Amino acid sequence: MRGWADTTGRDPRREADGPAVREAVVGVCGARGGAGASVLAAALARARDRRGPHPAVLVDLDDAGGGIDVLLGIEDQPGIRWPDLRDARGDVPARELVGLLPRWGDVPVLSVDRTRREPVDDDVRRDVLSALRREAALVLDLPRPVPDAPAWGGDECDALLVAARKDLPTVAGALGVVARARAGGAHVALVVRGRAPAGLTAAQLGAALDCPVAAEMRSERALAAAVERGVGPCGARLHRAAVRALDHVAASAPVLGDAVRGPWPARTAPAELSSGRIA
Ligand SMILES: Nc1ncnc2c1ncn2[C@@H]1O[C@H](COP(=O)(O)OP(=O)(O)O)[C@@H](O)[C@H]1O
Ligand SMILES: [Mg+2]
Repeated sequence: MRGWADTTGRDPRREADGPAVREAVVGVCGARGGAGASVLAAALARARDRRGPHPAVLVDLDDAGGGIDVLLGIEDQPGIRWPDLRDARGDVPARELVGLLPRWGDVPVLSVDRTRREPVDDDVRRDVLSALRREAALVLDLPRPVPDAPAWGGDECDALLVAARKDLPTVAGALGVVARARAGGAHVALVVRGRAPAGLTAAQLGAALDCPVAAEMRSERALAAAVERGVGPCGARLHRAAVRALDHVAASAPVLGDAVRGPWPARTAPAELSSGRIA
């Protein structure tokens, strides 16, 4: 894999001259471990790429996780991962960076690298994200915030979707996530999945957390098997929930400059999704 320092051969300020993309940066965070945050982030990025006015980029910021490239089945694809960007500061040439990322289908993915474990430096994260957001619609797969940590990727988000289950650990975990995300100024909403072991409803969850429910979905039975097969998380139900959540964001999130409002026209027909087939 090529290091970042090897790849730049031109004036990085060029990127800043082009027409800027102005779309909400959407973060996803799990209320608790295994809630489905990474799966949801991937589905949101794919739906956003297909339906939105701009291409999407999926950014993995969970540097304690196994790498979203593994979940997506693109671990073996060459391309830039976060450790290659450790020297990226200032005006990062975003267009070139996007071209060097591995892709999940059409979606470029900036993943952590499970074989080169290192935390993403706060300055690098900030500079890379601020360059990428001028180039694409960003979806961030976030770690759960550490209390009182000075910096968290969620602070860079306009909207934060909390992946939630209908259970007590979700309520307990989401309280901290929601408070931290609101402190950073993000619009916060829940995406609720699965059955309730004790009858808790999505509406009750929303009321307990004082959060709107952007989407609710049943678990996708074939999803875990698709991930194991290296296809990544695909499924019609998941796609529909992602679209609903994006429409909620478009209607609710403050966007810098011009607001981008949904519902967005389809750019390409997600044929395999509308037919209900797992891709
Ligand atoms: N929508 C879904 N339907 C069915 N299973 C899911 C769904 N989302 C997540 N899962 C299951 O939960 C596992 C953990 O999901 P993941 O997104 O990695 O969680 P997190 O990032 O919150 O830790 C997945 O590998 C999958 O088996
Ligand atoms: Mg995850």
